[in-house]
Amino acid sequence: GYIYEFQNKLLDWYDENRRILPWREDPSAYKVWISEIMLQQTRVDTVIPYFLRFMEAVPSIFALANISEDKLLKLWEGLGYYSRAKNLKKAAQILLEEHNGQMPSDKKDLQSLPGIGPYTSGAIASIAFGQKEPAIDGNVLRIVSRITANTGDIKDKKVNVDIEQMVREVLSENRAGDFNQALMDLGATVCIPNGAPKCIICPLSTLCEGYNQGIAHTLPVKTAK
Ligand code: ADE
Repeated sequence: GYIYEFQNKLLDWYDENRRILPWREDPSAYKVWISEIMLQQTRVDTVIPYFLRFMEAVPSIFALANISEDKLLKLWEGLGYYSRAKNLKKAAQILLEEHNGQMPSDKKDLQSLPGIGPYTSGAIASIAFGQKEPAIDGNVLRIVSRITANTGDIKDKKVNVDIEQMVREVLSENRAGDFNQALMDLGATVCIPNGAPKCIICPLSTLCEGYNQGIAHTLPVKTAK
């Protein structure tokens, strides 16, 4: 069936083409959390050295909760959006006070922490804890709008609800973290933005309604509001 084929094609492609990234090796919840916060507004290539340096200097939730503001801002210098760093420290303190110093695995608990919204909670729950939760960012919205030939405005609530529903249906039960990261890699390297998807090399092209209709490159539709 469609779901089985979708999962197999995407995960086989990921196994062959996945990017080797430092937060993907032995992904503790702490590593996944820090990397996802850094990746929220910053490109992968830029994040890598910052992530490695951060892990050396601040290797644990305990260390993060106790870091000086000065040291924290120095580690973040160049990444921008400094509220991300401040929220990290605040969240680490809450984790020590209310969660035994551990990252919670539950999506709701994760979202109660400063700096963690629906995307980041889904990424942590799936990648670090293997939970069947979607992690929907701009890449996933683009990929799924193409796959489903959804010509609605990507800013509309209804379009977002439909896309999340679709991802939940096809999401792998036992490899949810890999599935979500496969979509991230596909969006970064194949199903790229600005009307230039590389459908010829896409593992999902035969399942892609946008490709079949010849309109993948016109999606997602984003009207100026
Ligand atoms: N962008 C956001 N999260 C990512 C991840 N885990 N791997 C690659 N790119 C990402």
